[in-house]
Amino acid sequence: MLIKIGRPNDVKSSEITPQSVFMDRRRFMMAAAAGVGLASVSLPGGAPAAKFEGVVKGPFGTDEEQTPFEDVTRYNNFYELGTGKGDPARNAAGLKTRPWSIAVGGQVAKPGTYDFDDLVKPHMLEERVYRLRCVEAWSMVVPWVGFPLGDVIKRLEPTSKARYVAFQTLHDPEQMPGQRRAVIEWPYVEGLRLDEAMHPLAILAVGMYGEMMPNQNGAPIRLVVPWKYGFKSIKSIVRMDLVEHMPPTAWNKQAPREYGFYSNVNPTVDHPRWSQRTERRIGEFLRRETLMFNGYAEEVASLYAGMDLAKNY
Ligand code: MTE
Repeated sequence: MLIKIGRPNDVKSSEITPQSVFMDRRRFMMAAAAGVGLASVSLPGGAPAAKFEGVVKGPFGTDEEQTPFEDVTRYNNFYELGTGKGDPARNAAGLKTRPWSIAVGGQVAKPGTYDFDDLVKPHMLEERVYRLRCVEAWSMVVPWVGFPLGDVIKRLEPTSKARYVAFQTLHDPEQMPGQRRAVIEWPYVEGLRLDEAMHPLAILAVGMYGEMMPNQNGAPIRLVVPWKYGFKSIKSIVRMDLVEHMPPTAWNKQAPREYGFYSNVNPTVDHPRWSQRTERRIGEFLRRETLMFNGYAEEVASLYAGMDLAKNY
C-alpha cells in the first residue's frame, strides 16, 4: 500500500493461488458448514464447497459489472501475508480461522470475548455489491456477504462516552509470515468515528460471491467501508473497542502526511505522491474518473458537513 518497497503491478503466473490453497479452503468450508448458515454444495468436478444459505439482497447495491472472483482473490493487499499482490493468496493456507473469537471492550455495556459464530448468528446475512477503491488508484466491484456493523454495535450497548470504534487484526507471525518483518507496526489497527461505524453502508463481511471469505480477503471477518479508501477495510479482526478518543490507525502511524484518519475517497485531494482523480477498474483498459466518496456521496456526505476535507484527509 505504501509503495515504498518494491511492489509488482500485475499478477504473475507464479502468484496464482496454488490448488492446495483452494483445497484447504474447501475442506475448511465443509468443516464450518455446521456454523453460520452454510450449505454444502458440489462444484463442477465433484469437489465440495460451501455457500451461505438464505443470503438476502441488501440495500445500496450497484449493478455495475462484478470483478471476477479470480482477480479479487489473487490481487490483494494484506501485508500480514506479504507485500506482493500475489503473496496473500500464496500464504493464505497458513491462517487458521476457526476457532476464532473477537474481543470487545471499552465503552460498552456488554464487553467480552465473542466466538465468531455467536457474533454472526443473530444477523441476517446480506449480499452487498460495493465498489472498493484502493488508495493505489485501482478499484473493484465485489459482492460481499455480511451485515451492518451498526447492528453489532447496538447489541453491545455503547455508553454515552463512546465516540470512536477501534479495530485490530490478528497478530501471529507463526500464521502470518508478513508479520515476521516490521514492514508496518503490528498489529494492523483501524478506526472509525462512531457515526461512520453506525452508517448502514458500513458492514462486517464474512464472505463474498456467496461463499465464505477467502483467507487472503480477510477471513473470517473484515470491515468494508465503501466510501473510504480500501485500507480502512481492516481484515481478520480479533478486537473491537469503543473509545472516547480518536484511535491510532496503521497507515496514519506509518506515514501521517500521506494517510489521515478519515481517508474518504476524494478525487479533489491528491495523495502527496500521486493524483486520486482517476482509477483503473481491475480488468478494464481505460481509466475511470474517481467519484467523491467513491460514488456514495448521497448517502454519506452529510457525515462530514462543515468539515474541511483537505485538512481532514
Ligand atoms: N487489513 C489488514 N489487516 N492488513 C492489510 O494489509 N490492507 C488494506 C485492507 N485491509 C490490509 C487490510 C488495503 S490497503 C486494501 S486496498 C484492502 O484491504 C484490500 O482488500 P482486498 O485484498 O480484499 O481487495
